[in-house]
Parts: sequence; structure tokens; C-alpha cells
Amino acid sequence: MSELITLTIDGREIKAAPGTSVLRAALANDIYIPHLCDHPDLKPVGVCRVCLVEIEGRKPTVSCMTPVEEGMIVHTSTEELESIRRANLELLITNHDYNCQECPMNGRCQLQEVTRFIGVDEERLAMMRKPPLDDPIDDSNPYFLRNMNKCILCGICVRTCDEIQGDGCIDFAYRGIKTKIAVLGDKPILNSTCVSCGECVARCPVGALVPKDAVEPTYEVETVCPFCGCGCGIMVGARGEKIVSSRAAPDNPANEGSLCVKGRFGLSFVNHPDRLTTPLIRKNGELVEASWEEALSLVAEKLSQYKGEQFAAIASAKCTNEDNYVIQKFTRAVMETNNIDHCARL
Ligand code: FES
Repeated sequence: MSELITLTIDGREIKAAPGTSVLRAALANDIYIPHLCDHPDLKPVGVCRVCLVEIEGRKPTVSCMTPVEEGMIVHTSTEELESIRRANLELLITNHDYNCQECPMNGRCQLQEVTRFIGVDEERLAMMRKPPLDDPIDDSNPYFLRNMNKCILCGICVRTCDEIQGDGCIDFAYRGIKTKIAVLGDKPILNSTCVSCGECVARCPVGALVPKDAVEPTYEVETVCPFCGCGCGIMVGARGEKIVSSRAAPDNPANEGSLCVKGRFGLSFVNHPDRLTTPLIRKNGELVEASWEEALSLVAEKLSQYKGEQFAAIASAKCTNEDNYVIQKFTRAVMETNNIDHCARL
């Protein structure tokens, strides 16, 4: 491992690995620098300009794009920095739909957090305000909404789609004041190659991309996604006994903070009224509810009527590896056949 670099931020001696940005080095040491377009999973692009710092011997510099250097002396708060940051922030806010009360991200919005930290000149902001934006909300995707009136053009969604998902279904479109994030032809996102993974939704710092019917959970439980054999770690959010949200467990080595559409948006089946919660046995042509004991006895009795090639088993990816091992063992050793298959032979 290469030697750590020593630099000074706000009078504190900090150590960071070569290649770390000044912003990430500061944040890792609990020194807050406001930022909007930087994300730890993505390559920095330096477009929001609110992360400016002063590095001795240089002009105000964007900290997300500046790698740490040996002996660097950084100041994160000076009068000049505060003033430039405020002006940059106001320019971002003037293009932003400011109906925060009705925004599902209210209280969790990074723009609100940065605004609280930097502050704005209300009078100047009022003069710069443009008429409310009226880009129609794109609700074509079954799982999330796109409200471009709340977009701050940080490009996090574009980079996520490109760098993490490898899809590249969205990009910057138009020019100047009309710039927006759009799919090819500025059509509804459902008409694009979007795979609904929701990675962009998870990273959007404002309310431009939000899950439909988003409900804040009262608690979260870390578990494993039940959909396939990948074993992705998820944080399932619940209110009472009802699952209301799911997000990637950030440190799980199987998925490293990512999820597919099923793990992120597909857990409503758990509380769905159509879900079978008791076994059903067909009696006189009708399926009727039965106890587990009754159902298992019936299955055991029926199974005793078959052997060898008369029998086949399909195992499920929703079961654990141990369950799947048991079913194949049962098929081969008890039913004396190799007719065993699985629905997710990834
Ligand atoms: Fe550095 Fe946006 S966070 S320019």
C-alpha cells in the first residue's frame, strides 16, 4: 500500500491515501465541506461549485476535484469562500422548484442541508427567481417519479446510470437555461432502456427522483434479498409489521451498495392481500385452507406413490442454499432420481 499523504485542513493534520480528493479527506475526518454533485461511488465532475476551499498558494479550488498533496494547507471557511459559495448556491436554487413542504425529500434533501450551512441572500434570491418551472412530472415508470423541476443538474443520476449500471439511458439534453436530464428524444423514461434498478433514485440528492408512494420506515432490519441466488444485502424498512421500503445494505460484499429492481422495489408481495399464508388443499375440486400438518401429511402420502423417473423436483431461488441442498438430497436419496432442477441457475 502506498504511503499516506499528510496535509492540514483547518489547522488539523490529516492523513489520506494518494488520489483521495480534499473533499473526501475532509469528510472522512468529520470536517464538513458543503457538496452536491460529488458522490463517493462516482467519479467527480466538479459542476456544482459549492465545495470550494482555499488551498494556500492557489485560488479558490473545487475540493472534490483536487487530490490531496503532501504538505497541502487547506482552509474550508474564509469570507471569500462563503461569498462565492453563496452566489453559486443561489444560482442553483433559482432554477429549483422550492415547494419544499410538499416534497417527499423534505428533511432529507441535500440542497436543504447545504443551504442551511451556506445560507442565502433572500433579497438577491428573490430578484433572481424565475417563474415556476412546469416540466411535466414523468410518472411512466411503475416504481419512481421524475420531477425535473427539482433537478439541480448535479449529474449524479447520469453518472450512476453510466458508471454503475452501465446502461447510459439518461444524459444532459438541450442547452443553457433549458438544460435538463432526459432520455433519448426527451420521452417518458419508460420508453428508454432504463431497467428500473433505482440506483439513480437512491443517489439523487434532491427530490427529482423519488420512489412512488415513498413512506419513511420507523425502523430498518438488515437482511438478505429473497429474490435470487446472488445474496444481496438489503435494509428492509418497516412500519409496525408492514414493509414500506428497501435499500441496499451499504457494506455488503455481495452487492456493494447496489440493488436491482426486484430487491429495491419488489417487496410489496410480503404484505400483499393475495399472498398465500396458509396451505391450500383441493377438496371436491375447491382449494380450501388447511393446517401445515394436514398439508404435509397429504404430500407425504402422495409422494409415497411415486419413485424414480416418475418424480421430478424444481427448487426455488427464494429458498436458502441449505433448503435447496435438502431438496436435491431428498430427490436423489429418497425419491431415487436425478430429476432435480432450479429456477435460478446463475
Ligand atoms: Fe465539488 Fe460539486 S461537490 S463541485
